[in-house]
Parts: sequence; C-alpha cells; structure tokens
Amino acid sequence: MIPEKLKAALDEHVSAEVGAAYLYLAMSADFESKSFKGFAKWMRVQFQEEMAHALKFVDYMLSRGALVGWKDAKAPASTFGTPLEAFEKTLAHEKDVTARIHKLYHLAVAESDLPTQLFLQWFVSEQVEEEARVTEIVERIRLSADRPGSILYLDKEYGKRTA
Ligand code: FEO
Repeated sequence: MIPEKLKAALDEHVSAEVGAAYLYLAMSADFESKSFKGFAKWMRVQFQEEMAHALKFVDYMLSRGALVGWKDAKAPASTFGTPLEAFEKTLAHEKDVTARIHKLYHLAVAESDLPTQLFLQWFVSEQVEEEARVTEIVERIRLSADRPGSILYLDKEYGKRTA
C-alpha cells in the first residue's frame, strides 16, 4: 500500500502531467494558427508524451492498489507569443515538472517506499532529457534571431519529430 501522504502527492502529480499535456496542446494549436506547422507538430507529440506520462502514474498507482484522486487541470492560455517565448515557457514548465518529480522522490525516500522510488527513477532521467531537448530549441531559436529565414528552417526541422 502506498503511504497516505505519498499517495496524495502522486494524485497531485497526475494532474500536473495532464496539465502539461493540456498546455502543450494549446501551444500546438497556437503554432498551427500562426502557420508554424513544424512547431505545432512538435508540440502535438509533446502533448502525447505528457499523456503517456500521466498514464504511467495511473497504471503504477493501480498496480499498487490505489485509485487516483482526480484534481482539476488548470486551463492554459490560448496564445503564447513568439516561438522563442513559447519555448522559454515550455522550458520553465519542464523545470517545474523536474522540481515536482524530485520532491516526490524525496517524499518516497522519507516514507521508505522503495517501489515508488524505483518507479520515479525513470522520470528523473526523463526530465534530464526533456530539459536538454527544450534547452536546445531555445538556444537554436536565439541563434537565429537576426536571420528571419532561420526560424522557418527550425520550424521545418522540429516538425520531423515523431512520437
Ligand atoms: Fe511529463 Fe514533460 O514532463
């Protein structure tokens, strides 16, 4: 059985992952409306990844005999500014998710819940990858700042992302 305090924190985290999916779906739609088809595709894949993360938590909790206590997901904005601003917001969001995962891990240690510690290790590594992936995009967009054609090249490049 998952300790009560840890179970409550896992409940919160499911909504954080769904909230991230919701945010990236909104960003995808915004990019699409601005004809950045590639970034829109990238965000759509990101949306799918976040839903997959939420599912991992739901399935893990079920495997421990715990039903998720569902929370409201925060509605995202409809517009996110320039591609640079949108990806800076994405990076900030991923850093927030990383901090949440680390906090969950520390709680699993404090509660001596070994299975949850092991379960969370995949997410600790995943967040390193997530932050690196988005940092690269932010840096490449910044490098292209003085060359308007470059953003269209990056849009095309990142549109190659697949699930
Ligand atoms: Fe599920 Fe991007 O953190």
